[in-house]
Amino acid sequence: MRIIHSQADYQNIYKESIENPERFWGEVAGEFVWHRTWDKVMDWDFHKPEAAWFLGAKLNITENILDRHLPQRENQVALIWEPNNPAEEPRKITYGELKRQVCRVGNLLRKKGIRKGDRVCIYMPMVPELVYAILGCARIGAVHSVVFAGFSAGSLIDRITDCGCKMVLTADGAFRGDKKIELKSIVDEALIQCPTVEQVVVFERTGSKSSMKQGRDTWWQDEIQGMDDHCSPEIMDAEDLLFILYTSGSTGKPKGMVHTCGGYMVYTNYTFRTVFQYKEGQVFWCTADIGWITGHSYIIYGPLSAGATSVLFEGIPSYPDFGRFWQVIERHRVNIFYTAPTAIRSLEQAPLSFVQRHDLSSLQVLGTVGEPINEEAWHWYDKNIGKGECPIVDTWWQTETGGVMISPIAGVTPLKPTYATLPLPGVQPALMDEHGKEIKGAGEGRLALKYPWPAMARTIYGNHKRFRETYFSTFPGKYFTGDGCRRDGEGYYRITGRVDDIIIVSGHNLGTAEIESSIDEHSAVCESAVVGFPHDIKGQGVYAFVICYNPPEEEDKLRSEIRDLVSKIIGPIAKPDKIQFVPGLPKTRSGKIMRRILRKVAEGDTSNLGDVTTLLDPNVVEVIKQGAIK
Ligand code: PRX
Repeated sequence: MRIIHSQADYQNIYKESIENPERFWGEVAGEFVWHRTWDKVMDWDFHKPEAAWFLGAKLNITENILDRHLPQRENQVALIWEPNNPAEEPRKITYGELKRQVCRVGNLLRKKGIRKGDRVCIYMPMVPELVYAILGCARIGAVHSVVFAGFSAGSLIDRITDCGCKMVLTADGAFRGDKKIELKSIVDEALIQCPTVEQVVVFERTGSKSSMKQGRDTWWQDEIQGMDDHCSPEIMDAEDLLFILYTSGSTGKPKGMVHTCGGYMVYTNYTFRTVFQYKEGQVFWCTADIGWITGHSYIIYGPLSAGATSVLFEGIPSYPDFGRFWQVIERHRVNIFYTAPTAIRSLEQAPLSFVQRHDLSSLQVLGTVGEPINEEAWHWYDKNIGKGECPIVDTWWQTETGGVMISPIAGVTPLKPTYATLPLPGVQPALMDEHGKEIKGAGEGRLALKYPWPAMARTIYGNHKRFRETYFSTFPGKYFTGDGCRRDGEGYYRITGRVDDIIIVSGHNLGTAEIESSIDEHSAVCESAVVGFPHDIKGQGVYAFVICYNPPEEEDKLRSEIRDLVSKIIGPIAKPDKIQFVPGLPKTRSGKIMRRILRKVAEGDTSNLGDVTTLLDPNVVEVIKQGAIK
């Protein structure tokens, strides 16, 4: 395997991977279990756009996670489950047990009539059964579509309908800090509008009262009991669908990113081992939720395919107190810890004693993902958590990329705070100027990728046209990331944030259009515009400018109604932090909202709003400025 262990390795291997990508990826892929090897490593045309990897190869990803590691890892812990409440016992699931559980789910799905290619929606808390559900789908070739358990019924409807799920795997409820989320009743509400769903299997987690619909709903615990421990893996083509995962887009409708079996497996495994420099026996903890790509790739597929021990945490960083993460690290002797800048910033606010009372000496590598990390948070993390001795890998990637693309390699790449540093092998970034010309050397522009990589999303489910338009039309022949980026004289990359209508709130990707359309559902609202603003903890907050049909009589009441509505339609993560009622929006004569102006107002910087004379009604800017919410 072409794993890098030194800077010289990096230089050589990176060079080889660019000069001969097929040979490079062919060698990496050679370590896995294939039922048939590929006829061709890759094929691509970025104009269509189409990319395929390991053409003609056959595999089942769960054989590479489970069967391949047995019997040697029969008694090695694959998953350490740490519950929401520290008083509850953690669970340790060995590779042997994981295989049996995954097989039981696979058999259950087959018994229920689920076949290769069928879509199964998974809406569950962070419990081991969620992992069994995901891998159970993969075992039989069903396509999993995991929906984050913090999303509301409206978001669930969109996601189930878009890909026509036949089945939902869920739980009665989820524990989240001191709260309980009634998942089953959210599913019930959603399914009224989802005729494709025939069956629902409910895992009992919270003991919440659930109404079970006869003929549709059954209990997981009852169903799983009689299932066999062996389940023959469905033999998949490398390009068959493994999963769909929805991410926000610039229009209201989320995009179902499609990932396929072969390339995704190879890439998540390779990047896991390379970036974190994973060594046999280490305990790895990625704090993300499996509802997001980070959890898919670096709680499940990357670490488990590498035979690692992966921690699965059900709770939140602040419950029962701000020492929870550090307690878990101490309890399970975590070696590699991977989290989000927003979590670091929120924990940084708490007294340092929460950190100091725990023994963090097991830590060897730290990582971050999801948004740019500010310098202060980086240093706090380095000094207080890593004790100045753990490299921090600031990993840049996306739902669409499937795995890490630009990142330091732990202990190998010299670090530079706030820089994601250098591209991984096989990754070819391009910095583009506003005229679509590639910038050479140091500079600032938009980040594109000019060569395919194995885990790239293949399409948007059911909408290849949108895939082409979103990612491949800005810079023809290249993949456009939507991110702004700076490159320094050493070739180091620093991601500066989104340049489109997506905002990243607490590491969650939200489309402003999606939030606007849910605000507009309020009967008093005529139109709205949403932008991000800098937020100390969340990275970005949501600022909504709202026009009402009539000036609101009780502004605060309307604000809270709007917040509740957004929370109900999308989920609590999308609730606006600030709502300003305005008489109009700054629009051009062609009706386009000048978001640049709104962003400035939201940032509290109205000293130079640029040229507003081209606006339909320049006076509205003054009124908006006056009413800005601090
Ligand atoms: O803007 C970039 C930001 O997160 C976006 C992707 O979001 P999502 O698809 O939800 O995936 C998040 C987890 C991989 C990117 O377009 N982003 C991600 N990682 C970083 C980052 N921004 C700066 N630095 C990072 N390390």
